[in-house]
Amino acid sequence: MNRIEGRVKVTGLATYAAEYPVAGMTYCFPVQSAIARGRIVGVDATRALAMPGVLAVLSCEEPPKLAEDADGELALFQSREVCYRGQLVAAVVADSFDNARAAADAVSVEYEPAVHDVTLSADHPGLYRPEVVNPNFPSDTGKGDVEAGLAEAAYTVEVTYTTPVLHNNPMEPHASVAVWDEEGRLLIYDTAQGASWARNAIAAILGMPAEQVRVVSRHVGGGFGAKGTPRPQAVLAALAARAVGRPVKIVLTRQQMFDVTGYRTPTIQRLRLGADADGRLTALEHVAYEQSSRLVEFAEQTATPSRVMYAAPALRTAHRLVRLDVATPSWMRAPGECPGMYALESAMDELAYAAGIDPVELRVRNEPETEPGSGLPFSSRNLVACLREGARRFGWETRDPAPGVRREGEWLIGTGVAASTYPARRMPSKAVVTVQGDDFLVKVAATDIGTGARTVLTKIAASTLGVVPDRVHVELGDSDLPDAPVAGGSMGTASWGSAIVRACEELKSNGKEGRADTAEEIAADARLARHAFGAQFAEVRVNAFTGEIRVPRLLGVFAAGHILDDTLARSQFIGGMTMGLGMALMEETLTDAEFGGFLRRDLAQYHVPACADVPLVEAVWLEEQDAGLNPMGSKGIGEIGIVGTAAAIGNAVYHATGHRVRDLPITPPKIL
Ligand code: MOS
Repeated sequence: MNRIEGRVKVTGLATYAAEYPVAGMTYCFPVQSAIARGRIVGVDATRALAMPGVLAVLSCEEPPKLAEDADGELALFQSREVCYRGQLVAAVVADSFDNARAAADAVSVEYEPAVHDVTLSADHPGLYRPEVVNPNFPSDTGKGDVEAGLAEAAYTVEVTYTTPVLHNNPMEPHASVAVWDEEGRLLIYDTAQGASWARNAIAAILGMPAEQVRVVSRHVGGGFGAKGTPRPQAVLAALAARAVGRPVKIVLTRQQMFDVTGYRTPTIQRLRLGADADGRLTALEHVAYEQSSRLVEFAEQTATPSRVMYAAPALRTAHRLVRLDVATPSWMRAPGECPGMYALESAMDELAYAAGIDPVELRVRNEPETEPGSGLPFSSRNLVACLREGARRFGWETRDPAPGVRREGEWLIGTGVAASTYPARRMPSKAVVTVQGDDFLVKVAATDIGTGARTVLTKIAASTLGVVPDRVHVELGDSDLPDAPVAGGSMGTASWGSAIVRACEELKSNGKEGRADTAEEIAADARLARHAFGAQFAEVRVNAFTGEIRVPRLLGVFAAGHILDDTLARSQFIGGMTMGLGMALMEETLTDAEFGGFLRRDLAQYHVPACADVPLVEAVWLEEQDAGLNPMGSKGIGEIGIVGTAAAIGNAVYHATGHRVRDLPITPPKIL
């Protein structure tokens, strides 16, 4: 089945947030803070207001009315305090984008700067233990005696890995169009990963009942987490439109996106592993140091995958956070699992070398009976099968483990393996299905961020109803539709699909209409450890003279429940793996220690993989039957592809060169 919206997308007919034709449109361009910390003494808009086409200037000089408990990133112009460089401190509304932009340059902001601190370190005096880490895990966990486990170990690995600030770069920039009607209702066309959540958040901030706000996101050009919660431009569009009494459009520039739409926190991760003579873990400790802003506590769950992966009698995980003069970090594809598994799976490779055990075999020997952190039974777990199948397909058995010995001309060659994991969750969703002549209409406020959600939901409804997909029409991307959770956490399909199945079942029984709300069903789910697993294999070629790294082969083998659509699943897996390759070798946002804010704020400097960088990325899967998940038997697949890739590539670089780089990205200077 082809993507339902494929034709309108490739012919340019799919309407994205910034493209809705609204009569009387005006345009807003923000002014960003030039300092990283301090106070705004005054905002002088005189010159800007005199410029052509300018309708209004918004700033803290006349704070717009917002809810008092508003998220600090969205509480625009409420305070004179500056919390990071690039923060929105004012905005101009004008009759054209160019006039707004020109006038924004003419807004004069006087600051009283203070000394800033934007540098994360593992001995920062401001580090503290957060109460919980995202979404709601304990910060620290422990069982057994780590020190004793390390003392009795035949082999130990004690290492520190670092990962840089990383930025999501969805192709569609963050954009919002806000339109107020005469009854005081607000309509926002927004690039949101979830229309219901965005509506609720925007209404709360504006102090309005949710029914008075409507968010429409019919097509979204990628999100990866950057559009998972409303960003300042959505609130700004609403405020600006209210100020000028006309519709307002805001499209953030790529540079502004780097500043105000979130990023993956940098991490420093300390791992201590001990193993007995057979390679069985005696102790595993994983401590993650990370940052948040002064505005919001965002505590990434970086060490949590170590609670899931391997059997260890002594297991300790911990998170430490420091609040810096930086923007608030946020979700980026597999937040937590992705950087956490980079460190754990690199450390497991180091342990394999220390113990002289094949890295596939080492993982197999440490397979747990139940989830190590919680003791819960797994609903299904096929990591070992993925490792074995991957090893077979990749040709692992002929591998010489010795590092730095294979060479073809200038090129050193190596292979590496790492495991993948991601939680299989679902959240309550509503859905309605009705009969329309010979066809069926499914309504759910789901979002298709480019994953193919429309298509897979159509298939789910059609198969439950027992009709061909052509007879099913799915309406999504609008908060006026039945409430649904966000397209994130790899739980969109599981959440929306569950509600659609129940609604379709009801329609089949009454012949007319089905309405479902899965809240009770999900609350009654048995306590099980639900995760998808996978194994990734990488081949690298490292130029002995230049340090250039090429990745001729990546293979991922996944066990993620019942795969609902082969084409869409492959696309998610290889997309995640490609993004993981970017993390391994290219992606890095530099923080400007001197002035605050980020250096590298565009795609010329923030490098993401291009087609030529990924000659052969292959993803396959093992079909899993798991009745403990949801009516479809599916696990989420949007994020697991990026989990483990960077470790597999880093491990392959070590195998090729004999040189262990513990600091991403692995760029040529770190090799030579
Ligand atoms: Mo994704 S980081 O769960 O939107």
